[in-house]
Amino acid sequence: MASRFLERLGIAQPLVLAPMSGASTPALVAAVSNGGGLGSHGVGYLEPQAILDEAAKIRALTDRPFALNLFVLPDGVHEDEAAIDHARAALDALMEHEGLAVRTTRPERWAPRFSDQFAALCEARPPVASFTFNLLTPRQIEELQRRDIIVIGSATSLAEVRAWAALGVDAISLQGAEAGGHRGTFLHAPEEAVIGLFALIRLAARAVNVPLIAGGGIMDGRGMLAAEMLGAAVSQLGTAFLGCPESAAAAAWKHDLPGTDDTRVTTIRSFSGRAARGRRNTYVDAMEAQAGHFPAYPVMNALTSPLRKAAAAAGRGDLVSEWCGQAASLSRAMPATDLVAILLEEYAQARANLA
Ligand SMILES: Cc1cc2nc3c(=O)[nH]c(=O)nc-3n(C[C@H](O)[C@H](O)[C@H](O)COP(=O)(O)O)c2cc1C
Repeated sequence: MASRFLERLGIAQPLVLAPMSGASTPALVAAVSNGGGLGSHGVGYLEPQAILDEAAKIRALTDRPFALNLFVLPDGVHEDEAAIDHARAALDALMEHEGLAVRTTRPERWAPRFSDQFAALCEARPPVASFTFNLLTPRQIEELQRRDIIVIGSATSLAEVRAWAALGVDAISLQGAEAGGHRGTFLHAPEEAVIGLFALIRLAARAVNVPLIAGGGIMDGRGMLAAEMLGAAVSQLGTAFLGCPESAAAAAWKHDLPGTDDTRVTTIRSFSGRAARGRRNTYVDAMEAQAGHFPAYPVMNALTSPLRKAAAAAGRGDLVSEWCGQAASLSRAMPATDLVAILLEEYAQARANLA
């Protein structure tokens, strides 16, 4: 099934660049696609026109297959005024204490509307589209497949794997507990769906007959082969690419990555209102205890945006949302094309050693 799936994707190597909103860029996507893998771009924070623009930029850099990724969210946003006031007061106080001149604002809109983003994605017609945070409707899946777009759903538990499989998606992306960035969990409380990638691949492989994409803590060719041995068709790497010059991660965040202590990589709610894996830093130490009083995603994400931007501009990695997986210190700061070549060489070597 694995080689048939690679053929279907139109890629030669079992490597997917994980979609990373705020960090993946057209240049990073193209480097992985041109290197024989599948580059994915996280466009979940973008308005419809920007999604179309990003797809055009990718196409200008590669004629190889690529994927676009969206967060599946309701169009309406719940505004909890008490939680918004609490968060604004806490954030403004922190910025004052840390010497940042900006303050929170109430944006015109908390986030782009998913239905508009979905329409833009259909118009952009990427060869592959992946989705996280919730299921699509059968009608949305049909709309994508009618356009010959290969559809991937993201799962963090066996129940979520089964739910996507029942919808007839083309592949399922397994997000192990090790993975950096937002947890895609939608059927459970996030603290309940922290299944390690080893367990999740085996559970999924025994339960469904759908190609599996393995993500979470894979940083090198050995990890890619291990995922394949367990039953995955392809490995999906995110944190491994964060340090590349083509990644849009803030310079301070890139600087901090190699020195990341594995015990400091934790689940954080206070940046966005949704559980995400990243580095514990000054912001997290100051704010995480109050996370239960803050508004949910995407409201909290929008409220922390000015702080995160100002901190990044000031080189204050300790106040930025430094999303990363558990093996962040294995990241390698090098051009993405070189990293792809090294990963594939390591993978081939590991296979040869095993044989
Ligand atoms: C900075 C960052 C942003 C991310 N943004 C997204 C996203 O927009 N959509 C998504 O499905 N997953 C997102 N993820 C999760 C990745 O797709 C993937 O599950 C994860 O990177 C795999 O684990 P690893 O980081 O240990 O390689 C993000 C991860 C990171 C590190």
